[in-house]
Amino acid sequence: MLPAPRLGDRTLFPALAARAYLAHAALSPPSAPLRASVDAHLDALATHGAGAFGGAVAQRERVRTKLASMINASVREIALVPNTSLGVTHVAMAFPWKPGDRVLLFKGEFPANVTPWQRAAALFGLDIAWVDADLARTDPERFLAAVDAVCAGGVRVVAVSAVQFQTGLRMPLRELSERAHRVGAALCVDGIQGLGAVPVDVERDGVDAYAAGGHKWLMGVEGAGMLYLRADLARTLRPHLAGWLSHDDAFGFLLRGPGLLSHDKGFRDDAGLVEGGTPSAAGYAALEASLDVLLGLGVANVYAHVNAYLDGLEAALVERGFRSLRGANAGQRSCILGTIPPTHDAPWWSKELADRGVMTSCPDGVLRFAPHWPNDLARELPAVCDAVDSAREESPSP
Ligand SMILES: Cc1ncc(COP(=O)(O)O)c(C=O)c1O
Repeated sequence: MLPAPRLGDRTLFPALAARAYLAHAALSPPSAPLRASVDAHLDALATHGAGAFGGAVAQRERVRTKLASMINASVREIALVPNTSLGVTHVAMAFPWKPGDRVLLFKGEFPANVTPWQRAAALFGLDIAWVDADLARTDPERFLAAVDAVCAGGVRVVAVSAVQFQTGLRMPLRELSERAHRVGAALCVDGIQGLGAVPVDVERDGVDAYAAGGHKWLMGVEGAGMLYLRADLARTLRPHLAGWLSHDDAFGFLLRGPGLLSHDKGFRDDAGLVEGGTPSAAGYAALEASLDVLLGLGVANVYAHVNAYLDGLEAALVERGFRSLRGANAGQRSCILGTIPPTHDAPWWSKELADRGVMTSCPDGVLRFAPHWPNDLARELPAVCDAVDSAREESPSP
């Protein structure tokens, strides 16, 4: 029997080598309950083969229900997709475009929510407008004015990350959806840098589509993510990318045939439209265990725990000459602390800290600290400070 998860307690990660693991914005290590859940799935497969299929299907239905409850959506609005990029791609390819439609993208964003729209622009004759994402951090009013200016010229989709991957800036989703909806546009969000640790409410924030891989803040494994599609948006989509599971009653001919195999069946009119083929049963066995932990702890509690950790860490780093890129007010904050180091570049620091047992990541020239619910400030801050001080002492200037 595994111990119950507790904020700040990493007992459920017995193999984790780092003294302070602060790279959840890159990849989460698997917890003991996750490993037990994957083992149970593989045991069932090893024992029963195809007889384990029904159990895996039921597990995926539970995963959908849990994801829906985490973001305040309904079950039929959740599709299981392998990663963020494919989730966004499904929306970009299936959207009911007209040539000349415009998409608003944000400069400096992670490409997962940019490339699919650029491909859609090339294929469907769309125009792209850009606003600088970091303006939302440095000058929120000018940022919204720039968005207003684009919307005034007409736009069909506003595509944004919930959280910027390098600065950790939480984007003003509600303000963006209000502006998008006023001109009849949809708000499509890349949610991977928040979902699981930052509270999400797609209803409150007016989000129309929300895609997230499962291997960061959801603490699942790679290849098992999700896509939320608001019911009325799903009904307008065209099945440009579709497979056998995109149809109504896709399993009928396998389970209740004969006479049910047909090649002119209708397509689903809910999020399931995008689930064209067999998903990763092991991946969703992992995700269910992780969702149980996160929902049990409460995402709002995880968020508060991580931000208390980041308050202490930020102060210690600023004292040591690091420049914090954290948002000035609580609404701009996620669970990521991006910093610009005082000496050397971010990859140098990330390596030096890793050598001293502090795991960070360094995307786009930013040294990124990303703790999650098992991290404990009192235990780990001395390790981080020692690592920073000793790296600096041994190599004082570039
Ligand atoms: C904002 C953001 N979106 C998407 C991804 C990854 O996309 P995918 O799930 O398609 O691999 C990352 C990081 O890997 C990211 O930081």
